[in-house]
Amino acid sequence: MKLSVIGCGYLGAVHAAAMAKLGHDVIGVDTDASKVAKLAAGEAPFHEPGLPELLLEGVASGRLRFTTDIAEAADAQVHFLAVGTPQSADSDSADLRFVYAAVDALRPVLQPGALVAGKSTVPVGTAADLAERIATTGAGLAWNPEFLREGFAVADTITPDRIVYGVTDPAHADLLDDVYRVAIDAGTPRITTDLPTAELVKTAANAFLATKISFINAMAEIAEVTGADVTTLADAIGHDARIGRRFLNAGIGFGGGCLPKDIRAFTARAEELGRAESVAFLRQVDAINLRRRERVIDLAVEMLGGSVFEKRIAVLGLTFKPDSDDIRDSPALDVAARLHGLGAEVIATDPYGIENSRAKHPQLEYIADTEAALDGAELAVLVTEWDEYRGLDAARVAGLMGSPRIIDGRNVLDVAAWKQAGFEFRGLGRH
Ligand code: UDX
Repeated sequence: MKLSVIGCGYLGAVHAAAMAKLGHDVIGVDTDASKVAKLAAGEAPFHEPGLPELLLEGVASGRLRFTTDIAEAADAQVHFLAVGTPQSADSDSADLRFVYAAVDALRPVLQPGALVAGKSTVPVGTAADLAERIATTGAGLAWNPEFLREGFAVADTITPDRIVYGVTDPAHADLLDDVYRVAIDAGTPRITTDLPTAELVKTAANAFLATKISFINAMAEIAEVTGADVTTLADAIGHDARIGRRFLNAGIGFGGGCLPKDIRAFTARAEELGRAESVAFLRQVDAINLRRRERVIDLAVEMLGGSVFEKRIAVLGLTFKPDSDDIRDSPALDVAARLHGLGAEVIATDPYGIENSRAKHPQLEYIADTEAALDGAELAVLVTEWDEYRGLDAARVAGLMGSPRIIDGRNVLDVAAWKQAGFEFRGLGRH
């Protein structure tokens, strides 16, 4: 099939490459000419495992092209909308200007019978509005939310754990079935529903995941004042299949381009709908999440005798999670910047996040080599659980540092082993 993907960021670039891998003829459209040039050369504009190989293969096969000119997408049977919906600058609402700009740009080239399939995360009600906007073109609109996780985006797109379509016409579901034929034939559950349900499925999934993380972080706060261990607690409650162990890792909290802004946008949308009280708990979810960053700062101040001023602190990790170079709403980078703001001499390191972090916070000192970053530090703060940091040897790190103190902001280190190596050790909800 001929497909287009409008918006080639984390979501769109992966979707375009994955659809080409499935055998479709795909054109990716983006307004950013430098991004398009990179993608067209088979280069990933961001770090995502498996994406470079997929891009190269797609571009070489001739089934994957990229352009800044939306007119080149005119003959696609399905146009996937994959533009960003960031948080508005002045409120909690989603900023939908890229969605509307994409649809307005697409409208003049839309052919009757084509389908616009929204993948972006939008406030419930947006899809119906967009459907009306394109109604006169004879093209249809469906909502087909995407659940990919950064770091696993390629696998999540090619072998999703479910496929959801919101449609107004069963023929649109048939068209999307043809797009996802490989996954459907492999038995992937497929849920066909209406537009608002499809939009809400995505919002609800992210709200639930954020709530799960903040729930365990709330337990960490209680563990901190009672001497309990939140990791053991998570293991124990996680054995209950109704609860499940995944997404119960307590630590510095969630960040990234999705969970934080999506729970805020959901809260704002519920207020507009007169249902603020229905999701009032999401304000708490957000507040618990942000308190965990404060906790790390407070621990740093306490461990360094009441002030971090002019103290050398190695911050291990900058991205919002491992296997990504994404620093959007990253708790790790936030902690690094705040420690610097308190006068600490922050040396920050990360396998893939330095370039993006430097662009946002040029005031910090960045060192790519982990051991060089730790050299002479009076405190190490592990805030992104890259494998490299999980595997650090406590005795060796103790030898590098000025004084052996560490905060494990992701609860991934072996407390006993680090204490044994002479460390003053603090976890989040662990002792
Ligand atoms: C998320 C959703 O998982 C995905 O389905 C959706 O499509 C987009 O948003 P992503 O932002 O890539 O994906 O990251 P995810 O793996 O969900 O992690 C989000 C944040 O939560 C990270 O900062 C991570 O460190 C944190 N997290 C995750 C925890 O603090 N504890 C956990 O147990 C799990």
